[in-house]
Amino acid sequence: MRAFAPVVVVLLLLGLGACTRQAHYTPITVPTLDPATEARVQRALAARDALGKALLGELQGVIQARGPEAAIEVCHDRAGVLAREVAAREGVAIGRTSFRRRTPNNAPPAWAAAYVEMRADDAVYLRRDDGALAALLPIQLQPVCVTCHGLPEEIPPTVRAALARTYPLDQATGFRVGDLRGWFWVEVP
Ligand code: HEC
Repeated sequence: MRAFAPVVVVLLLLGLGACTRQAHYTPITVPTLDPATEARVQRALAARDALGKALLGELQGVIQARGPEAAIEVCHDRAGVLAREVAAREGVAIGRTSFRRRTPNNAPPAWAAAYVEMRADDAVYLRRDDGALAALLPIQLQPVCVTCHGLPEEIPPTVRAALARTYPLDQATGFRVGDLRGWFWVEVP
């Protein structure tokens, strides 16, 4: 029930990080929302769940059928496609990001950068001045993730080699089960 947990509001960051050139974002707390914003929060969570389920489903399917090395190619080719499919279906923008990223393609949107830097481990919700919602939803490392994101000695050598080939700038290893791995970010118009 993370969804309804009180949201950390970092007022200090308001002036520094939550403003972009294009739009202004204000942190909001979930228990006190108006119905329209509450509906946007629910859409953000539904999109997060849909993308999480799709990614995990493909990942586990390919690992079982063809091993974790093949799954790296799948992540590479499919993570973006799945995100775009969920975005189109749910009418949102969505992606994944982290403070230690496998690829620069997963850099955070401008509104999320300050929270990524401070490693916010509670959900963050922001209201853009046009009413749109921006959500940053934490992802914890699970046992199934260790093969590709764990400590170096936990990652099989063949997987390490495949990662090095496909992701020369990889920083997304060294995580333990339960660690904050990163976030889903969602924008709901
Ligand atoms: C088979 C290897 C593999 C496994 C297992 C795996 N990942 Fe990844 N992960 C990747 C690859 C490859 C990428 C980069 C995908 C891309 O090109 O966008 C990635 C990217 C990510 C990102 C985006 C941020 C970044 O580092 O670029 C997050 C967050 C993430 N993974 C979380 C997880 C979680 C949580 C699990 C377990 C449920 C998991 N991963 C399991 C290979 C894996």
